[in-house]
Amino acid sequence: MTDQPAVERRNLADADLTRAVEESFENTPDPRLREVMQSLVRHLHAFASDVELTEEEWFRAIDFLTRTGHITDDKRQEFVLASDVLGLSMLVIGINHRHPSGATESTVFGPFFVDGSPGFENGDDLGNGAPGSPCFVSGVVRSVDGEPVPGARLEIWQADEAGLYDVQYADLDEPRGRGHLLSDDEGRYWFWTVHPVAYPIPTDGPVGELLAATNRSPMRPAHIHFMVTAPGYQTLTTHVFDVDDQYLDTDAVFGVRSSLLATFERHDGGTAPDGRAMEGEWSSTAFDLVIARD
Ligand code: BEZ
Ligand code: FE
Repeated sequence: MTDQPAVERRNLADADLTRAVEESFENTPDPRLREVMQSLVRHLHAFASDVELTEEEWFRAIDFLTRTGHITDDKRQEFVLASDVLGLSMLVIGINHRHPSGATESTVFGPFFVDGSPGFENGDDLGNGAPGSPCFVSGVVRSVDGEPVPGARLEIWQADEAGLYDVQYADLDEPRGRGHLLSDDEGRYWFWTVHPVAYPIPTDGPVGELLAATNRSPMRPAHIHFMVTAPGYQTLTTHVFDVDDQYLDTDAVFGVRSSLLATFERHDGGTAPDGRAMEGEWSSTAFDLVIARD
């Protein structure tokens, strides 16, 4: 038999209703789950009261969430996208990395990471046929105390010159513009890819409708994604952004940090840093990745 609730559950409205729902979670054995659910109820009720939510708006919200679920699969994560455009993803990253550790700052993971990327050696071309002009990327993986970290695993993914990730091409079943490699004995990494460009986040789903209805830009400034893992170190999920991009201050997902901007030097012909003889336009950038111990 369940105990009688401390707050009566009949004829409830407004503040009494909120208190009764909060109280209904009082016997939750996990204290953290209790805290999260009770706070969620308080804020959700306060929000609905604040805007005097109509029934029609409530139905639209349910419909938005239903369609967000229906469009989500193993290649498309519309809930992450919704969290990103609402700034929730960056808020959670900020809460969990409040104390400056000296490590490279984190930013959004985004919906385009794919498990099981192909492995490459330093110096290889991760572009793997992706359209775009060549871009040489290099740097050093270091610990916060300045020591190089050999054998760190770098997962790298990015969009091509059309602003599309490989997984956005319906007829493409091989990875392009993504892969992983290991830092060498001195913590160094280097690879070829295609020059990153600014692109719109997917707008053909409920999140795109929300951006259009609110007159918001879907554009993200040009960037390359990194996820760095090494035994004994915290995972770092970040990007390097092109410092000259026009969308740095209007990123649709609020992910830009000044510390993540790098110059992408433009070249025409000549010799690349790895000795390759170049023809035509190409670019290069250098970006060190600093990781914190567990
Ligand atoms: C991305 O950079 O891949 C991304 C991040 C958040 C939302 C959409 C895309
Ligand atoms: Fe991206």
